[in-house]
Amino acid sequence: MFDNEPVPGRNDACWCGSGKKYKKCHEASDQKMEYLYDRGEEVLPRSLLKQPKDIEGIKASAAANMGVLDYVGEHIQAGVSTMDINRWVEDYLSAHGAVSADLNFEGYPYSVCTSINDVVCHGFPDEKAVLQDGDIINVDMSTIKDGYFSDSSRMFCIGEVSPERKRLVDVCHESVKAGLAAVKPWGHLGDVGAAVHQVALDAGFSVVAEYGGHGIGKEFHEDPFVSFVAEEGTGPILVPGLCFTIEPMVNAGKPGIRIDRSNGWIVRTADGSDSAQWEVQLVVTETGYELLSW
Ligand code: MF3
Ligand code: CO
Repeated sequence: MFDNEPVPGRNDACWCGSGKKYKKCHEASDQKMEYLYDRGEEVLPRSLLKQPKDIEGIKASAAANMGVLDYVGEHIQAGVSTMDINRWVEDYLSAHGAVSADLNFEGYPYSVCTSINDVVCHGFPDEKAVLQDGDIINVDMSTIKDGYFSDSSRMFCIGEVSPERKRLVDVCHESVKAGLAAVKPWGHLGDVGAAVHQVALDAGFSVVAEYGGHGIGKEFHEDPFVSFVAEEGTGPILVPGLCFTIEPMVNAGKPGIRIDRSNGWIVRTADGSDSAQWEVQLVVTETGYELLSW
């Protein structure tokens, strides 16, 4: 088969662990994947497909992940420092039997990313970064619970923000919704990125090309890479069971970025313009998608 993994006999147990016979389980889906592969399509290995027990695990992780973001939403306001948010995250997760996926990931030194105004992503929590009226901030939370990863992020507007900032935040949110609407089983991943990109471009904004979404489940960042400057009809096939994030970084100005050389992590817009990001995690289903974390 296309992924060089074994194919069970029709009356043997399915490879997915469901306990069902192969012919009553993944046989039809596997045949479709093989057919598309033979036609030159990009088909990801079946090992990436999430089974019902995996989805349950991800949902339990996501309950903690979204619980943290809800908590942040209820308490964030002018005068709060981003290190306060880091503390809320650690307290909340430990009280819910979960840990941050960010902490120590490739050496990342905090439990959450807090990205204010022109910070595109990977903003460090900082005692001195005190939120002010008019700021926009992305709080990006990733959780591990019982071996399963969840990942979502939200924007928060502090007090009265300018109409320009509000529009950036809203357009980015709309772009994620357009991306979700483009998730079709047996469609292409590039349709999702193209839909996201179009919404940002129509509003006069730009999308960061260097970062994107990712597969997720038993690992933090699995295949596929999800570009938000992609072309329709390109990229991997959206097979039911594929789990990934939609998380565009939309810049008010030009798409260029700069990574802070003093720490190698904090990403800012090169032109100093504002940047927004929302992130959701989903699984492709037979009929569309199911949101897992938002
Ligand atoms: N949460 C980010 C994502 O959406 C990844 C952050 S990695 C970290 O994929 F190390 F900076 F936390
Ligand atoms: Co992510």
